[in-house]
Amino acid sequence: MKILIATEKPFASEAVKGIKQVIDNAGYEMVLLEKYSDKSQLLEAVKNVDAIIIRSDIVDAEVLEAAKDLKIVVRAGAGYDNVDLDAATARKVVVMNTPGQNSNAVAELALGLMVYAARNFFDGSSGTELYGKKLGIHAYGNVGRNVARIAKGFGMEIYAYDAFYPAESIEKEGVKAVSSAEELYETCQYVSLHIPATPETKKSINYDLLSKMPSKAVLINTARKEVIDEEGLAKLLEARPDFKYLTDIMPGNNDELKEKFPKRYFSTPKKMGAQTAEANNNAGIAAANQIVDFFLNGNRKFQVNK
Ligand code: 3PG
Repeated sequence: MKILIATEKPFASEAVKGIKQVIDNAGYEMVLLEKYSDKSQLLEAVKNVDAIIIRSDIVDAEVLEAAKDLKIVVRAGAGYDNVDLDAATARKVVVMNTPGQNSNAVAELALGLMVYAARNFFDGSSGTELYGKKLGIHAYGNVGRNVARIAKGFGMEIYAYDAFYPAESIEKEGVKAVSSAEELYETCQYVSLHIPATPETKKSINYDLLSKMPSKAVLINTARKEVIDEEGLAKLLEARPDFKYLTDIMPGNNDELKEKFPKRYFSTPKKMGAQTAEANNNAGIAAANQIVDFFLNGNRKFQVNK
């Protein structure tokens, strides 16, 4: 069996060693394609491989077509909007993710961005504290839950909204469950986004919703850029001089926002929420183990294209 690791944004080297160990132990062969700059390199690398481990790398119909021997793709991470699930299903390729494995890393970055906003981008001026402030967690999955855990340590008052997760379960964790996204945005000065990019969520964070946020609002995005209505966001930053947007996923209008709102808009240069040695180890090794377990025992527990 040939297992390809295709990571445009590479794992930490110790994670690659850990993945190799799992693959070696199973008697399989590991092939490594890191930091590729062109899709043609990926198309070449996927020929004759049985399995692929990816991160945010795009696996579309063309890649699947080129990978004639492919049986399984594992997204080492949570969001799998980068994989064409229908095309994979049509080719009987199993797609999995590794839920929860990198969520602490993303949650720590979300809190880091909140501190950065509260302290005026570390510009030396007098800022504010997170203590006692209202934080709204939009979607209470693995990352949202970790954000709640860490934010409790900061002494924030925590609210959450999740369309698919029961309010009682949220409340059991000492978090106030609200009944709509509108209520969350109306209530909380800080909102941290943890929704996936789906046809329903795309551009759902729009001008109307954001304009409901209270004074000195801060929106943190460590989820996906696609969920933001970028035009609406630019309009809101223009209309509300008290509003800040900090993101780990650079928007299409980054240059415009950077130029117009340098003290209220910040984006990391490259998505780095899950970019820690620990998260790379957890997600990468979990992906390798899932592949081995799939080939040896047919385990499909984390399959997402059912
Ligand atoms: C995820 O969906 O797991 C995160 O967004 C991390 O993505 P990355 O592996 O591309 O850093």
